[in-house]
Amino acid sequence: MTPVRLYRARVFSPIADPFANDVASSYVAYEDGYVAVDEAGRIAAVGEWSSEVAQEGDEIVDLGRGALLTPGFFDTHLHAPQLEMIGSYGGHLLEWLNRYTFPTEAKFRDPGHARKVATAFFDELIRHGTLCALIFSTIHAEATDIFFEEAERRGFRGIIGKTMMDRNAPDFLLENAADSHAQSRELLQKWHGRGLLRYAITPRFAPTSTPELLERAGDLKREFPDAYVHTHISENRNEVEWVHQLFPEAEYADVYDRYGLLDEKSVLAHGVHLSDEELDVLRARGSRIAHCPNSNLFLGSGLFPLHRILDAGVVVGLGSDIGAGTTPSLFTAMADAYKVQQVQNVSLSPFHLWYLATLGGARALSLEGETGSLEVGKSADFLVLDCGATPLLALRGGRASSMEDLLAAFIFIGDDRAVREAYVAGRRVSF
Ligand code: GUN
Ligand code: ZN
Repeated sequence: MTPVRLYRARVFSPIADPFANDVASSYVAYEDGYVAVDEAGRIAAVGEWSSEVAQEGDEIVDLGRGALLTPGFFDTHLHAPQLEMIGSYGGHLLEWLNRYTFPTEAKFRDPGHARKVATAFFDELIRHGTLCALIFSTIHAEATDIFFEEAERRGFRGIIGKTMMDRNAPDFLLENAADSHAQSRELLQKWHGRGLLRYAITPRFAPTSTPELLERAGDLKREFPDAYVHTHISENRNEVEWVHQLFPEAEYADVYDRYGLLDEKSVLAHGVHLSDEELDVLRARGSRIAHCPNSNLFLGSGLFPLHRILDAGVVVGLGSDIGAGTTPSLFTAMADAYKVQQVQNVSLSPFHLWYLATLGGARALSLEGETGSLEVGKSADFLVLDCGATPLLALRGGRASSMEDLLAAFIFIGDDRAVREAYVAGRRVSF
């Protein structure tokens, strides 16, 4: 056996979907456990600690009982350029886009600005425990390149795309369909599959796309079927109404489907107001929904019908949707997902929530074979959480009667102070 590094701590990891399986067999939990990481950055073993688990030559890192080792979080939808406009209050979606979002995104014409925000953006994500994310850039190719470069520099697992848009926005944020295609193609060829990075073909949403732009996006998807598609769907009732006007004879999901933009690598943000027929289309294509509860509350978009969507057979991940979401924290995303279901008379357990933020997110991004849980053979992508990070966490976590209750403490009162260390592919990532 080649030597490994053994991290000894409390360990918790989802290993299956608790929405579809017996909850008790959907995770592993060890009060005194360990994770062994090999030299290639893969998980070599996970289990209950004992003096026999270490072999000659292994390095033991004892993190103590105050540490919880768990998979890194997945943010399945957010906008890097909107970090600086978090908390832009007062409007619902369409007004908010015009008043705040478009002027903010226009600043990414300047590569210096893009670099500054990219640095802050990945600092914030990793500091909050997000180690993989599906990210919107702006229409600017150079800014998009900069977001990729910064992700690569950190060893971050990023899926990023240049926003495509050619109507219904101010002139300074519009491009033509041919240029949008050419620039997206160049970025895709440069970055898709380079190390931990992947490319997402990213038409902003139907209302800012002409039929020609969607046609060009579909051309890209046909040329590079392995690439992701990342867009928005059915977030806000006025938006849905607008799509019906712009694309008569089609429901929202059909618009994307018509242009060949829906398959299992397609991730659609929100899906708050989808019809049963649209859910049938998404299920048939295998497309995923990124549920962004914090954003849905902030913009007053509506209450996500989680069980209706899961029961229709559509895979769901969690997203922060910065900057309509007000924090990069997946702890908060879990807490808000809980509250959004509570007001609809559904109580999600910490096991369900933690699954959505980790393995469920990996599944939404088609990465569950590689990452998302602490299982032998997967990439060693994990967090070291500090159970005593704040006086309140120490107090609340200290009286936790079970792993389930400890997870609840992190979900409802955890924040970036709870993330002590982060590892991707066995390598520590900085923040
Ligand atoms: N729909 C189209 N663009 C956006 C955006 O930037 N944020 C959100 N929340 N929804 C959108
Ligand atoms: Zn969004």
